[in-house]
Amino acid sequence: MEASKNLKTPPKFINDDGVSQECENLISSLPSEKNFTGIKLYNYQGSWYYPNTVQAILNFQKHFRAQDTDIILASLPKSGTTWLKALAFAVVHRNKYAPNLVSHPLLSDNPHNLVQFLEADLYVKNQRPDLEELPTPRLFATHMPFQTIHESLRDSPCKVVYVCRNIKDVLVSHWHFRNKLVRKDLHSNYSLDDTVDEYIKGAYAFGPFQDQVLSYWKESLVNPTHVLFMRYEEMVEKPEAQVMRLADFLGCSFTEEEKQSGTVEKILELCSIGNLSNLEANKSGTSSCGIAHQAFFRKGGVGDWKNHLTDDMARKLDEMVEKKLEGSGLKFE
Ligand code: A3P
Repeated sequence: MEASKNLKTPPKFINDDGVSQECENLISSLPSEKNFTGIKLYNYQGSWYYPNTVQAILNFQKHFRAQDTDIILASLPKSGTTWLKALAFAVVHRNKYAPNLVSHPLLSDNPHNLVQFLEADLYVKNQRPDLEELPTPRLFATHMPFQTIHESLRDSPCKVVYVCRNIKDVLVSHWHFRNKLVRKDLHSNYSLDDTVDEYIKGAYAFGPFQDQVLSYWKESLVNPTHVLFMRYEEMVEKPEAQVMRLADFLGCSFTEEEKQSGTVEKILELCSIGNLSNLEANKSGTSSCGIAHQAFFRKGGVGDWKNHLTDDMARKLDEMVEKKLEGSGLKFE
C-alpha cells in the first residue's frame, strides 16, 4: 500500500523550482521542446534535460573535481543502472562487506541510495554537497553524456564505467517505468506510440540514446584505462566474465582464491534482480531522487521489446541508431 502510494510521487528533478537566475538566463538561450505531456525540456551540450537537472549540471560542472580513486557509473536511464550500481558497490567494497545474503548493505538499502546520481541527487538544489564523508573509493552515478562530465574529470585517472542496452529494450522499459510513476489523476498513461515518437525525435530526459552511447564508446576506444564500455546483454549472457572484467578495470581483480571460493557467484546472487526485487528495502521506500525503489525493478533480461513494439517501430529505431553509429565500430545485435 505504502509502496504504491510512493510510486505516484513525481521525481524532484522534473520540477523547475530550484533554478537560479544564472540558470534561468542560460535556459532561455537553449533549444527547448515540450514532451507530449507539455513539460519542457532543454538541450544543453547535446542532451535534453528538465530545468532542475540543468541547474544540477551547472552546479556539478562548477564544483565537482574528481579524485584519482573516484568511480563514475554512467548510463542512459533503463539501461541497467541499478544492476551496475549494485555490482560495482559489491565488487569494490567486498573486503569490507563480504557478499552474502545475511548481512550486506545491499540487503537493507536500495542501490540508488548506496551510489547516488551526481545530477539527480547530489547536485540538485545543492551547489556543494559534502562528499568528504563518502568512503574511498567514492562511487557516483550519472546519466550525463561523456562531453558533459569530461571537464570535471580532466587530469584524473578516475574510472568511468558505462553500461548500454539496446534501444528497443530501453524504450519499452522506460515506457513501463513512466507509467508506474505517472499520476493517473493528473495525466493519462504514456502511450507506447508517444514514447516511440519521442525516441525518434530524441527529446527525452538524457536523450538522444545514440548520441550518448557514442560519446562513451568513442572515449572507451581512445582511453580504455579511463572508460569501460559494458553492455547489459553481455552481462545477462556471461555475468561471471563481465563482473571479472569490471573488477579488473577497477583495479580490484578477483584473486584465484576468491574465484575458487565462489566470491564472483555470491556477488551475482546478491545483486540479481530476483534477490534485490524481493527485499523489503526495495519493495518500499523512495530513493533520494524521489522515485519509489520498486519502480527500478521489473522483468530484466533481453528482448522484451518483441512483446510490445511493432516491426515498423523496431525498424525505425534500428535504422536511426545504425545511421548514427555508422563507421564507429559499435553495433547492436
Ligand atoms: P526492464 O524494465 O526491462 O525489466 P535502470 O536501472 O537503468 O533504471 O534499468 C532498469 C531496468 O533494469 C529494468 O528493465 C529492470 O527490471 C532491470 N533491472 C533492475 N535491476 C536489475 C538487476 N539486478 N539485474 C538485471 N536487471 C535489472
